[in-house]
Amino acid sequence: MLNRLEEIKSKAIAELNSLADLRELEAWRISYLGRKGSLTQILRSLPELPLEERRVVGEAANKLKAFLEENLAEKRRRLKEAEEAKLLERAKVDVTLPGYPTPLGRLHPTTQILREVCSIFASMGFEVVEGPEVEWDYYNFEALNMPQDHPARDMWSTLWIDFETENGQRPMLLRPHTSPMQIRLMEQRKPPIRAIMPGKVYRYEATDATHESMFYQVEGLAVDKGITLANLKGTLYEFARRLFGRERRVRFRCDYFPFVEPGVEMAIDCFICGGKGCRVCGGEGWIEILGAGMVHPKVLERVNYDPQIYTGFAFGMGLERIPMLKYGIDDIRLFYHNDLRFLEQF
Ligand code: PHE
Repeated sequence: MLNRLEEIKSKAIAELNSLADLRELEAWRISYLGRKGSLTQILRSLPELPLEERRVVGEAANKLKAFLEENLAEKRRRLKEAEEAKLLERAKVDVTLPGYPTPLGRLHPTTQILREVCSIFASMGFEVVEGPEVEWDYYNFEALNMPQDHPARDMWSTLWIDFETENGQRPMLLRPHTSPMQIRLMEQRKPPIRAIMPGKVYRYEATDATHESMFYQVEGLAVDKGITLANLKGTLYEFARRLFGRERRVRFRCDYFPFVEPGVEMAIDCFICGGKGCRVCGGEGWIEILGAGMVHPKVLERVNYDPQIYTGFAFGMGLERIPMLKYGIDDIRLFYHNDLRFLEQF
């Protein structure tokens, strides 16, 4: 019997030493110290032994039991430690690893060009002012020298808001140009005024490569004593050279807008062919970029500025046209279709 105990001891210790985790340790405990464990069975059989042998074997068996329990506790402690160390190792952060790259967004081409235009005018002392896209007939037409039934109203294919007053008039619209901002600003201020007013405009259009029902305009207005057409030309010439290149030439020709007198249209010589004629300028050599003129005396009177004292110039341009010319974009509809293959190029 004592031999059997020795056997159990050496086998148990050898096994214990090669255990790798707590689950295996539990199996080991059950096989030696569990209810049907080999040592437990010997302890249970003690009463069947002759008295003398029972005493000797009993003492040795109880000693072995204490010994195994001690070893079990020690092994359990060490395995737990090892497991915690493993967890810590796994949770370790290597702060020297490079981070995951974050995909970067970018500004819409319209926003990019708008910022460029604003900063050019800001550097010439113009402030930037914004206003409503839903506008009154009064600001959009009436105060701009286009009373009801004025034929020039048809120059803007206007989208009217479906709202009628008692006398059957529709006084609200989606602004088809930014010029109503001229009136709004002059109503609020006294001269001197130097401002650009960018924003969205809307037109009732069958869309095609050069027409969209929503696009951006930038309006400009300068009013003070002694402003002349020379100031208009100088300002817009400088603008064109900064945006399209120092070597640009500009061309002013007469044009008609009811709220300016005289009215002009400005063109730059084609920056692709230098004026010889190519695909971008349509063989013309010149590219029209904006409408402008001296603020009409009737418009000044409307906002209670004395046209004998004050004069001013105004201009308005389509914004998308600039990147279209610069980058050779041949369809304005690309701007607002949100196709990443287009947008990612800018
Ligand atoms: N508002 C005009 C347009 O949309 C452009 C313009 C603005 C012309 C200011 C003259 C002065 O066509």
